[in-house]
Amino acid sequence: MTVFEATCTAPVNIAVVKYWGKRDTSLILPTNSSLSVTLNQDQLHSKTTIRASADFTSDRLWLNGIEESIPSNNRLVACLRETRALRTEMEAKDSALPKLAQLNIHICSENNFPTAAGLASSASGYACLVYTLSQLFQLPLDHSDLSIVARQGSGSACRSLFGGFVAWDMGEKADGSDSKAVLIEDEKHWPDLQALICVVSDAKKGTSSTAGMQLTVKTSPLLQHRIKDVVPKRMEDMIAAIKEKDFPRFAELTMRDSNQFHAVCLDTYPPIFYMNDISRSIIRIITEYNKDGVKAAYTFDAGPNAVIYAPKENMAEIYAILSHYFPGHVFDDSLSLLKDGASVAALPEN
Ligand code: DP6
Repeated sequence: MTVFEATCTAPVNIAVVKYWGKRDTSLILPTNSSLSVTLNQDQLHSKTTIRASADFTSDRLWLNGIEESIPSNNRLVACLRETRALRTEMEAKDSALPKLAQLNIHICSENNFPTAAGLASSASGYACLVYTLSQLFQLPLDHSDLSIVARQGSGSACRSLFGGFVAWDMGEKADGSDSKAVLIEDEKHWPDLQALICVVSDAKKGTSSTAGMQLTVKTSPLLQHRIKDVVPKRMEDMIAAIKEKDFPRFAELTMRDSNQFHAVCLDTYPPIFYMNDISRSIIRIITEYNKDGVKAAYTFDAGPNAVIYAPKENMAEIYAILSHYFPGHVFDDSLSLLKDGASVAALPEN
């Protein structure tokens, strides 16, 4: 029996203008646009292999070696449904194509970093799932189109379809067809910019992003101010800072946005705390380091881990300072593109 197989990897992205809040929870449509930097996937990535075969009696999923239920995961079901529907359309138009849409599939996905520790594992995971499905099914979609499907797995996943600097346009349409990722500048644009990841804790986070952001939407007046009065202008300023490679401006916007995201979490009722005492010490150290001119930027997602962005020339010093205060917590990373490292093969009978 023929087995069809595809394997891909996808990178992590770290937002510098944060996504926090949904206006539609099933289609995953955000309350504001966001912008991120994609990290080098040589160090942090998800890797997914998908096989399709007439021999398989059901769809199955293994995440980091442990089997998980597919039917109980609506988001995964949505990604499979969308990609299969597109493949079905292709097969209807071209009878020579193998009938892959009807076959059951086995999905095997792994992260080479701690899952759910605020290191955006859902972003790389769903980007990788959707990209691998698109390779398996040979879907004629560009990365922006695919981001619409990945978004339905996890919002931030849509931005991991590109390397470099990536915006997620919130869109306006109720069906979500204009809520997608767009490339601002690719990974070659600003080679001098590097990222350093400070793993404060690799424990699973307390409040998931999904639950936390909906509580914020329901209860935080500050979120309404952020959505209306802050993010639209900040997106414009951030895009300009990136295009001009203006580090001090990029850094100030990044730190202000991280601060406001965590302020919005504090304004949620009951409040949500993602940073801990070590996270706050990192903010103080970077603030002190920047006192004679901005040389580094911190940002924190839905967890205590810090990501520091800085020009290459400052990184050794920053690494030394942080590992002096927090030995064993820091590892570095640099920026690169989602590689088209896909392999699609029809394996011989075995
Ligand atoms: C703080 O994309 O994990 O990292 O769409 O519910 O899966 P869901 O949420 P998710 O939220 C990410 C939130 C963030 C900010 C960001 O990445 O923009």
